[in-house]
Amino acid sequence: MQPTSIHDSVREHYAERARTETSCCSSSALYDDQLLKDLPTDISQFSLGCGNPITTAALKPGETVLDLGSGGGLDCFLASKQVGAAGHVIGVDMTPDMLAKARANAQRLGYPNVEFREGYLEALPVDDNTIDVVISNCVINLSPDKPQVFREVFRALKPGGRIAVSDIVTNGALPEAVQKSMAAWGACVAGALTVQDYARGLIDAGFVDVRVTPKETTDKWLAALPIGVPFSATITARQPRADEQPSGEMPDGVELETAGELKIDGLEDLIGRVTDMDSIENGYDLRLEGDLAEIRAKVAEVQQSVGCCSPLKFELVEAADGAHLRVTNPPASAFVSIDSLN
Ligand SMILES: C[S@@+](CC[C@H](N)C(=O)[O-])C[C@H]1O[C@@H](n2cnc3c(N)ncnc32)[C@H](O)[C@@H]1O
Repeated sequence: MQPTSIHDSVREHYAERARTETSCCSSSALYDDQLLKDLPTDISQFSLGCGNPITTAALKPGETVLDLGSGGGLDCFLASKQVGAAGHVIGVDMTPDMLAKARANAQRLGYPNVEFREGYLEALPVDDNTIDVVISNCVINLSPDKPQVFREVFRALKPGGRIAVSDIVTNGALPEAVQKSMAAWGACVAGALTVQDYARGLIDAGFVDVRVTPKETTDKWLAALPIGVPFSATITARQPRADEQPSGEMPDGVELETAGELKIDGLEDLIGRVTDMDSIENGYDLRLEGDLAEIRAKVAEVQQSVGCCSPLKFELVEAADGAHLRVTNPPASAFVSIDSLN
């Protein structure tokens, strides 16, 4: 397989991350503390993921697990404990600096059932029909050829084998400038598929029981905004069993589930004050009524609640005609200093 310029650019981005040891969100924001407690902090806190595929995977002792884009190895180490001595975990990554880091971590931990292989998602270095579970954390969006990745995952899995993936998806096409920005590729944004395209890609590769679900309440809310924002999702699917005939139909599970509680502190209060709404570039301008000091406090609460991991920006504009809440997807220029997104 010929590496592409996207591979080269993404590899450089993650080589730098491996060398400088800079994580994205804290692992504690993604995983239950119980899961992480047996690992040294430098290993447990080095996550470049956007979810927790380990809990989704519900691994069983003896299973063989393949982690696509294993980075520093955190998910492999967590999987290793769950599949036990009779199981096996293979991490695949294309970035030598990441592999060196993961292998050094594995040696320190002394886990005998984990190995890391150099390779591309688009040409997985594993034999056909050998894997029980494919996991991946914030990686498939980085591939320039997702249909090929889905075919490779299908090839590697045993009949009935399953996938449990955390990834960035969108609720609509991203602005063209973002799609072309190499910095936005590296930051897991530009290559994100829409929820529907993700599901369609898996179904076309032959998978059944496909589900693409916004991760948590914040992400569910982001998914509801009709402005093409990236958000984290949990993706599950399985290979059909030998006696099963896939229908090729889109399942119900890809409809965005936006019902349920909004857990962004202060947001419901602000929504209750909206008297008018305009579309603006990359978002909405919501006119608010009420006491300005209270509105300021609520906007600050929302900004705090959404935190650094959200790609959406909530900004208060105090104009002559009153207070406005601007909810925007950052403009393309913001993707250049991408750390604000991570
Ligand atoms: C966002 S990081 C996630 C790392 C890890 N899964 C985690 O949760 O910390 C993406 C990783 O995938 C690797 N990667 C990206 N695209 C790849 C591809 N096409 N083939 C193999 N590895 C890839 C990168 O080298 C990097 O280590």
